[in-house]
Parts: sequence; C-alpha cells; structure tokens
Amino acid sequence: MAIERSAAKRPNWSSGFAFIMATLGCAVGLGNIWRFPYVMGRNGGAVFLLMYILLTVFICSIPLLCELLLGKQMRRGVIRSYEKINQKFSIFGWLCFITSIFIPCFYFVVGGWTINYIFIYLFNQMPTDQAAYFAEFAARPCLPLLFGIAFLILCAAFPFRGVNKGIEKANNIIMPIFIVMLILLAAVGLFLPNSIEGLKFMFAPDFSKFNFTTILTALGQALFTLSVGMGCLVTYGSYLKKDNDIIKSSGLLILGNTIIAVLAGIMIFPAVFSFNLEPSAGAGLVFITLPKVFSAIPFGNVFGLMFFILLFFAALTSGISLLEVSIAAILEKFKISRKMATVIMSSIILVFMIPAALSFGPLSGYKIFNMTFFDAMDFTASNILLPLNTIILCFVVGWVLKPKMELLTNNEKFYNVFNFLLKFIVPPVLILLMLFGLGIV
Ligand code: TRP
Repeated sequence: MAIERSAAKRPNWSSGFAFIMATLGCAVGLGNIWRFPYVMGRNGGAVFLLMYILLTVFICSIPLLCELLLGKQMRRGVIRSYEKINQKFSIFGWLCFITSIFIPCFYFVVGGWTINYIFIYLFNQMPTDQAAYFAEFAARPCLPLLFGIAFLILCAAFPFRGVNKGIEKANNIIMPIFIVMLILLAAVGLFLPNSIEGLKFMFAPDFSKFNFTTILTALGQALFTLSVGMGCLVTYGSYLKKDNDIIKSSGLLILGNTIIAVLAGIMIFPAVFSFNLEPSAGAGLVFITLPKVFSAIPFGNVFGLMFFILLFFAALTSGISLLEVSIAAILEKFKISRKMATVIMSSIILVFMIPAALSFGPLSGYKIFNMTFFDAMDFTASNILLPLNTIILCFVVGWVLKPKMELLTNNEKFYNVFNFLLKFIVPPVLILLMLFGLGIV
C-alpha cells in the first residue's frame, strides 16, 4: 500500500517535449563541447567522427534503450529499480550511486572554470598570454574551489525545486537558447578565413589514422556523451508516462546529441585551423586555444562571452542530471524529502570536490597511482565504473529482465536485432573497452 501511494505521487514529465529537452540537456554537456573536440583532434578527426557515429548507432543505443526501459518499467530511481528486479541486485544500483558521486567531483570543477571565464570575458580581463592565465587560474588555492561550489549550488537549485518546477523548467528554457547560440557560433566559425581546413579535418577521413585506439576512444566518448552507465536515463525514464515511445525518444536523443557534437566541432575546428593552432591541444583546447582565437577576431570578447555562457549552460543541464540520480535514489530508498536528499547529496559531493578542485594547485603533488585526485576520479569513473555499470545493465536487462516485445516495439525484426546485440555483441565490446581503459589491451 505504501509503495502504491508513493508511486501515485511520483512526478511525470508534463510533455514529450519536456522529456526530450531534459534528456538532451543531460546528454549534451562538457563531453560534447569540451571533450569531444580535443579527443577528436587527437584521434585523427574525420575517422574518429565516423567511428563515433557508427558506434553510437550500433552499440551505445542498446544500453541507452535499456536504461530508459528499466526506468520506465520500474518507475524508480536507480537503486530501487535494480532492487525491484531482485533484492540481490541492490549492489548494482549502489555502484551507479557511487559513480554519480565520482563524476560530479571533477565535472563540477570544470563547470566552475566556465563561470570564471564568463566573468573574465564580461569584464574584458583576458590577458594576452592565455595559456599562462589558465595555468595560473587553475592553480589558485581558492578561486577554482569557490566557483566549483557556486556551480554545485546552481545545479542543486533545480532538483531541489522538483522534477517539474525545477529540472523540467530549466531544460525547457535553457536547451532551446543553447541550440540557437550554438548554431550562431558555428556559423561564425564558418566565416573565418581558411575555415575549409577545419572542415576537411572533420569530414574528410584519412584512413591511415585509423587504428584500434581510435575505435575504443570513440566508444568511450560516445557512452560518456550519451550519459550511459550510471542511471541518469533510468532516473529520467522513471518519470515517463506509460504511453511514451522510448524507441522514438532515444532516436531523437541520439540524433540531437550527435548533431550538437558535430556543430560544436564546426564551431571550434575552423577557428583553430584558421589561426594555425593545434587541434590536439588536449583538455586546454577550449580554455586556452579558443581564447587565443577570440583575442584575434573582431568582436572576440563578445563571442568569447557567448561561448563560455554556452559551455556553462551545457554543463549546468548535465550537472542537474548528475545530481538527480543520487537524489532520486536516496529519496525513495530512505523515504526522505526531496529537499533533504538534495542537501545531503550536495554536501557529500562538496567534500569530495575539494581535493579535485585543488588538484591543479596546492594538491598537485599528491598522487594516487601517479594521478592527481582530479585525474584519479575521472579515470575511475570513466574507465572503470561507467563501462562496468553498462556491462551489468546489459546483462541484467538482457538475461534477467528480458523485456517483452510489446514494451519496446511492435516490429519483430527490430526486437530480434536489439536482443541479439544486447546479449551477444554489446557486452564483449564493452569488456574490451574496459580492458583498454585499464591499459590491459
Ligand atoms: N553526457 C554529459 C556530457 O556529455 C555528462 C553526463 C551527464 C554523464 N550525465 C552522465 C556522463 C551520466 C556519464 C553518465 O557532458
């Protein structure tokens, strides 16, 4: 009876549009705009893009559908969803929960950097040596931490207000603005001199650059940007109404996320090439290389400001989804209020965020397995926990839950392909990815 009552109280997305905006907000983040261009830059450009698209469609779409399905069917957050299948599976939900603490620790630090850069451009304070500025800023003892905390509080404000009044409203407003800004900035990129070189780099594949590392890096990137592997989509799927067609929704999500990643590339690469900068600059690409571009073009300050607001929006909507996973999970597990759950989770994340924020300065000498705390959190989450959770998810959904056809589709052929990929293809590919991430293959 108690369960029935809490199910009745469970919030629902108020429209299909709201759900698409929320999942798109969750998927589109620093991964698309900060990480995608530099991993693509390092892994041969167009070849990488091609692999990324193929792997998204044929591999990553499967666990993505599984997450939505699990959430929609169980109508619970990630811990209770697993428990509803089998009490013994509780641990799998907790693994996702732990992942949802690890990722914000480094993600929110970068989110904090975007706030700093917004202020820098707003007040026209970017010095001429952008690389030195970035290194000096990231190494400071207080500022990056303060901005990280500000970012955390901004993210938490939305789940705090609830699914409809907070999360849904934020995404409904921010995502359309984000898309318009992105198209605008991508168009600016195209008008820069020599932008054709950037486009060639993105779209003309050079197969000599193709290797095994390209494939596995593209796979890891695809999973990360689609937010697969810690239950974000289980949680967001759990607020779906019964009649939502999750195949259509996930198709739209994949399409939208890919187009946005490509647009981000078009915004960045022509600019990088037109100023003869390095496309493989690594994590500093958007914080060092792009400011160099902004300082060299007319109205650069305005574009710089727009770019960092865009990056901030992308990070914010993803940050909200990262928090909602653990909030929804403990709220129903321990039957506490949403506000209480938000405060508890934000405080826990805050504590772990401190060493991550200080990893570039005061704590840069402290290493775990030769990595700073920031890198160690990123490594553990991206290379171990995300693939591991995804493998478990595929196993549980494919072999234990065995979703009925009518829950997914009325197309038998599609259903058979889905089942085949889910049971026999995706798990070994993911195991390979994990071994690769651990440096074993
Ligand atoms: N997909 C987001 C990005 O590209 C980050 C993100 C949000 C995420 N939720 C996630 C990554 C869940 C992995 C798992 O920035």
